[in-house]
Amino acid sequence: MVQLDRRQFISTAAMGLAALTLNGASHALTPPSLREAAAGKGLLFGTALRAALWQDKPYQTLVAEQCSLVVPEGALKWDTLRPAPDRFDFSGGDAYLKFAKENHMKYRGHTLVWHEALPSWFASTVNSGNAKKFMLDHISKVVGRYAGQMYSWDVVNEIMEPHDRRPDGLRKTPWLEMLGPEYIEIAFRAAHEADPKALLFYNEDQLHPETPQAEMMRQKALLLFKDLLKRNVPIHGLGLESHIFSNGPMAGEGFQRFLHEISDMGLLITVSEMDVCDQTFPADVMERDQLVAKKYHDYLSVVLQFPTVAAVSTWGLSDRYTWLSMHNPRKDGLPVRPLPFDSDLHPKKASEAIHQVLSEVPARSNRIHAINRLSA
Ligand code: G3I
Repeated sequence: MVQLDRRQFISTAAMGLAALTLNGASHALTPPSLREAAAGKGLLFGTALRAALWQDKPYQTLVAEQCSLVVPEGALKWDTLRPAPDRFDFSGGDAYLKFAKENHMKYRGHTLVWHEALPSWFASTVNSGNAKKFMLDHISKVVGRYAGQMYSWDVVNEIMEPHDRRPDGLRKTPWLEMLGPEYIEIAFRAAHEADPKALLFYNEDQLHPETPQAEMMRQKALLLFKDLLKRNVPIHGLGLESHIFSNGPMAGEGFQRFLHEISDMGLLITVSEMDVCDQTFPADVMERDQLVAKKYHDYLSVVLQFPTVAAVSTWGLSDRYTWLSMHNPRKDGLPVRPLPFDSDLHPKKASEAIHQVLSEVPARSNRIHAINRLSA
């Protein structure tokens, strides 16, 4: 049971009364959507979309009702975009942009430079001699196609890996091996040149845990941002993927210090891919949903206290479509329940928890209100 404090109880009761007395008839007021609740604080609320959307009208309706920002889960990755070195397939990226425009949503691109989701021809075709040209051509063509229509791009994705033991903390990806650390600056400058209006983000996972490894990632990320900003590289923010694990160490002092430092640099922050893996939680659905909701509440309460956080996106909106079903299934074989809506598209305790946090956090700055203004 999500506890409402006295203020919220009164406002909820008042809404109830308003519902009962409207024109004397009993009209049930529709509770605000996550999109509306977020907008009330100048935030965007979004989610990742996959091709199943097109065969699922009720899910399209739920996304349109609840979200003001959408991001393709796979359509703008190299493996989907580029079936061959000289061939692009923009059908997915174009379709999601159309959906976003029709539903007055912002559109986020994911992702331009990553070590995963590389097409089968990549390893045998791209090398140190042509990697820069492949990257520049890719970014110019992909970002250029949607120039002026994007909220943001995840320019580089998951580039830190402490286990690779580099002093700069960078992951030993094909891009790093072929171009050196400069690949990061190359990517951001190319993306900005192709679309000066798009916000450009570095998207990273597992920056929140209170662990030595995450603390090292945070420190290396701060050094990276300071170096890029000193050289006037056009980077605007940090995407916190926020894939929370049921048995993972939660956000603590180190993460909050980190968010303060990121904010003090004038950078934007987004929660870019949130979900809560419920693998080690009990089988009982009521209990499990409550534990998942508490993770959403506790994490978002920490992050959204920072007014530089511009958007919250989950990685899928309903348990009907989550990567965790395949990648992190439960040992008992029960369907996973990581997202704000269940597989019947009903709101869960996690959705209530997000609403509660949105009601409690400070409104965003005028700058973020302006960035997040939606088309009429
Ligand atoms: O479309 C093919 C299908 O034709 C084929 O039959 C099937 C079996 O091989 O694979 C399908 O492609 C899969 C694709 O998802 C679409 O479902 C790929 O194998 C699979 O690797 C891919 O996984 C995605 C993964 O990124 C890699 O791109 C997940 O859905 C997606 O949720 C996940 O998202 C990432 C973010 O981009 C970055 N942050 C972490 C996050 C979770 O890993």
